[in-house]
Amino acid sequence: MSEYVLEMTDVSKSFPGVKALDHVQLKLRPGKVHALMGENGAGKSTLMKCMFGIYKMDEGQIKIDGQPVTISDPMDALKKGIAMVHQELQPIPARTVGENIFLGRYPLKKLFGFISVVDHKKMYEDTAALLKKVRMSFDAHQKVGELSVSQMQSVEIAKAVSANCRVLILDEPTSSLTANEVEALFRIIEDLKAENVAIVYISHKMDEILRIGDEVTIMRDGKYIGTWDAQELTTEKIITQMVGRELKNLYPPKNNVPGEVVFEVKDFTSINPRSFRHVNFQLRKGEILGVGGLVGAQRTELMEGLFGIRSHSSGQIFYKGKEMTINRPKDAIDSGIAMLTEDRRGSGIMGVLSVADNISISSLNQYLDYGFMINGKKVEQLVQDNVKKMNIKTASSKTQIKSLSGGNQQKVLVGRWLANNPDVLILDEPTRGIDVGAKYEIYCIIEELARSGKSIIMISSEMGELIGMSDRIMVMCDGRVTGFIDGKDATQENIMALATQFE
Ligand SMILES: Nc1ncnc2c1ncn2[C@@H]1O[C@H](COP(=O)(O)OP(=O)(O)OP(=O)(O)O)[C@@H](O)[C@H]1O
Ligand SMILES: [Mg+2]
Repeated sequence: MSEYVLEMTDVSKSFPGVKALDHVQLKLRPGKVHALMGENGAGKSTLMKCMFGIYKMDEGQIKIDGQPVTISDPMDALKKGIAMVHQELQPIPARTVGENIFLGRYPLKKLFGFISVVDHKKMYEDTAALLKKVRMSFDAHQKVGELSVSQMQSVEIAKAVSANCRVLILDEPTSSLTANEVEALFRIIEDLKAENVAIVYISHKMDEILRIGDEVTIMRDGKYIGTWDAQELTTEKIITQMVGRELKNLYPPKNNVPGEVVFEVKDFTSINPRSFRHVNFQLRKGEILGVGGLVGAQRTELMEGLFGIRSHSSGQIFYKGKEMTINRPKDAIDSGIAMLTEDRRGSGIMGVLSVADNISISSLNQYLDYGFMINGKKVEQLVQDNVKKMNIKTASSKTQIKSLSGGNQQKVLVGRWLANNPDVLILDEPTRGIDVGAKYEIYCIIEELARSGKSIIMISSEMGELIGMSDRIMVMCDGRVTGFIDGKDATQENIMALATQFE
C-alpha cells in the first residue's frame, strides 16, 4: 500500500504564452488537509483542473494508491473518487438546489416496470438529508438563482460531499462564506478527515491555513517550491516562500487628508422592509470610509441602493451640496460614482471579452476622437498602464478574461473602475481572493486615490483591512447603521460589538 492516496509528479502545463505549471508535484495523505498556496496566477487552480480531468497535462504522472492512472474528464475523476468545488462557481440559477446537486446523475425510477424517469421524491429527500449532513438549512426546492453567493457556495460543497469521494478539492471555498458557515465547513472537513478523505485546501487566508492545514505545499510562478508540515510554518514564512522575498508591511503608510463633505446620505431606506433602513452618513473628500458588519448586515444592498441597482422607498442623496436622483446605475456613473461589485462572476466580468475590453468597457466614451471614434491607441495605453500598475498576470491584453486566474480577474475589475476616473468609488470586498502581495498593491492604489482627493467607500469583512485602511469605519447590523468608529480607535472588539448590535 502507498502512503499516499494520490500523487502528482512532474506535472507541466502550458497555455498559449504562459507556462502555467512547470514540473509540479503534490502528494496527498489520507485523512489530512493539504493546503496549496501561492500568489494569484501561481498555478493552483490549473493543477487542480489537471487532477480533476478538466485540462490534459502536457507532462507528468498521476498515481492513485500507488498505481499510475489517466483521468480523462471530470466524470472519470468522480468515478475515481475525486470531487472538486470550483473557485468560480457555475451553478444553474433557474434550477432548484436538488437539481443542481444531482445534475447529470439524477436518481431514476421505473414507470410500468420499464420506463426510466427521474425520481424527484428521492432526489429531494436525498438533498434534504445531504443539506442536513453539511449543516445547512435551506429548502431543497428553492431555485439556486435566488440564493446568496455564500449559500450557492454551500450548495457546491454539499454536492462534492455527496459524491462520497476519497479526495476532495476545495478551491477557495470560504471566499464568500459567513463566519458561521466557515465554522460549519470546518466541521464538515473534520468529519471527512475522520472518514480518511484527503482534502486539498486552497485559500489566501493565512489564519485558515494555519488552523486546519496539516501539510502545506507552496507554488510560485508555476513552479513547485516545497512542502512543509503546517506546524513548522508561520504566516511570515509562508509569505516569504510565496512571494520570494520578505514582505515588511501589510498596509501602505497613509498620507491622505480628508477634506470637506462631498457626499451625504439622509434617511435612506429600502423598499424591502428587511433590508437597509434609515441610513445616514457623510463622506469627505479624500476620505476612506470603511464599512464593517457581518455578512447579511445589508452593506452590499445599501451600496447597490445608492448606486441605483436596488430601489429605495425614501431618503435623499446629496452630492457636492446638490440633491441627486439615482434610479439606475447610469445616473450614478454619469455623476462620477463608480462601484466594484462583490460577485465578479454574476455581475462583474464579461468572460469571453478580452482583458482590454473588460478594463475599458465602462470608460470608452473618454477615449473618443471627434466624439465618436474610439481611439485604439489611447485605449491600449490605458490597458497597458493598468496591467503594469496592478501587475496583472496575462499573456496579452487580448487574452479572454475568463482564462485569467481568479485574483487577476479581480484586478482587471478594479482597473475598469479606475479607468472611469470617478470621484466617489464604492468598493465591495475589493481584495477578495487576492494574494498578500497583490493586496498591498491594491491598498496602495486606494491610498493614492484618496490622497488625490477621491472619496472611497470600502466594504470589507476582513478586520485587518478595515482597521489598516480606513479613516473612519461605519458599522452596520441587520440593515441599520449601528455606529461610526475613528480609524485610529478601531479594534476588532469595538467593531464586533457594533456589528452584533441586534434590535
Ligand atoms: N484556460 C486558460 N487559458 C490560458 N491561460 C490560462 C488558462 N487557465 C489558466 N491560465 C493561466 O495560467 C496561470 C495560472 O493560473 P491559475 O488559475 O492556475 O492560478 P491560481 O494559482 O489559481 O491563482 P488565483 O489565486 O488567482 O486563483 C495564469 O497565468 C493564468 O492566466
Ligand atoms: Mg485559482
